[in-house]
Amino acid sequence: MSQNNKSILRKIYALIGIALLVYSSYIVFVLVTHIWHFEKDEKKQEKEISEEELLFKEMIKEKKMVEYNLGYKVIKQEDLENHFHHVGNQAYHDEINLCIKCHGDIPHDKNKSIRAFLNMHSDFLSCEVCHIRLDKDKKFIWYSKTDGKEIANVKIEAYLSNSEYKLLPLEYVDGKYIRYDSDSKRNFVEEFRKIISTISADKKSQGLKLIHRNVNKEPVKCDECHSPTEKQCYLPLSEIGYKKERIAQILSNEVVGMVNKYKEFYIPNFLKPGETKNEAKK
Ligand code: HEC
Ligand code: HEC
Ligand code: HEC
Repeated sequence: MSQNNKSILRKIYALIGIALLVYSSYIVFVLVTHIWHFEKDEKKQEKEISEEELLFKEMIKEKKMVEYNLGYKVIKQEDLENHFHHVGNQAYHDEINLCIKCHGDIPHDKNKSIRAFLNMHSDFLSCEVCHIRLDKDKKFIWYSKTDGKEIANVKIEAYLSNSEYKLLPLEYVDGKYIRYDSDSKRNFVEEFRKIISTISADKKSQGLKLIHRNVNKEPVKCDECHSPTEKQCYLPLSEIGYKKERIAQILSNEVVGMVNKYKEFYIPNFLKPGETKNEAKK
């Protein structure tokens, strides 16, 4: 190769090198300014939203769902394994509750705006608390999620996060208060679940009707518990163990205000009439 050709080739290489250098500097510049913008925006956002909105944001975070096929119904459930690996403390799974046997721990899915709240409450309130309405004679107990035994003298001062126990309403029958998850009901559900895939549609519907006999078509709503005064609250908060300061927080303007803010999204999804007998218990 001649001397002339060699120098042309060298010039071409040099030009390619310069072009590459300029291009990569440009890429680095774009990336760096992009990241800066991102950080700035997020910081600004966090300052602008209030504490209650942050709390709401935290609660509404999507949980990873896994599907369980019950044979007759596919339900979605929080991926607890995922939970165990990423959350330091142990998650208490309710081994006792009857409704959970079929519906799972986090049954609320339809109403996207409040489902996170409903599922959050299901950690310390049994399904029956909201889905079975008590008129007079309101009595509740706390039960252990692991052995089902009643826990007396619960005193609650702080937020019940990942609670070991749950509230359950009692039914007044023949002068006595009995649990809504009585042994006979428990046995029935157990037997029913075993045979459900083999029985006729009629029998299945009959069994489900019986199980949902007390389930009210209008579950207890946010503002019935987060009411302006303790007297108006659906739950007898003092009686079930809430300390004064905690009651003030539950009934605080902040929570009630937030509840009212999300009220407009609240479209109750009633049981279809005729499918279940769901009149309120007298
Ligand atoms: C044997 C399994 C089983 C048990 C136990 C059970 N459910 Fe259900 N539940 C079902 C099935 C299946 C449906 C759907 C019924 C239908 O579509 O006809 C249903 C429907 C419902 C619905 C209506 C859902 C909707 O989309 O409107 C509510 C509310 C409900 N159950 C609450 C409860 C509560 C509260 C308990 C505990 C007292 C309970 N269930 C116990 C199986 C069960
Ligand atoms: C804090 C009160 C509360 C608790 C506790 C609660 N629910 Fe609900 N539930 C509601 C309300 C309110 C709705 C109606 C939501 C709507 O559609 O607006 C509802 C709806 C439902 C539905 C209809 C389907 C859906 O996706 O919304 C089912 C099924 C159900 N609940 C089952 C349960 C079961 C099982 C438990 C216990 C693990 C439970 N609920 C605990 C208040 C509650
Ligand atoms: C059956 C009564 C009941 C219903 C219905 C109910 N709550 Fe609650 N809620 C409670 C109780 C009791 C607590 C306190 C839990 C504890 O012991 O820490 C609570 C706690 C809360 C908290 C946390 C407050 C704090 O100071 O830590 C928020 C937020 C909240 N509820 C919002 C809602 C929303 C939104 C709804 C409707 C989707 C709702 N609640 C429905 C009884 C209820």
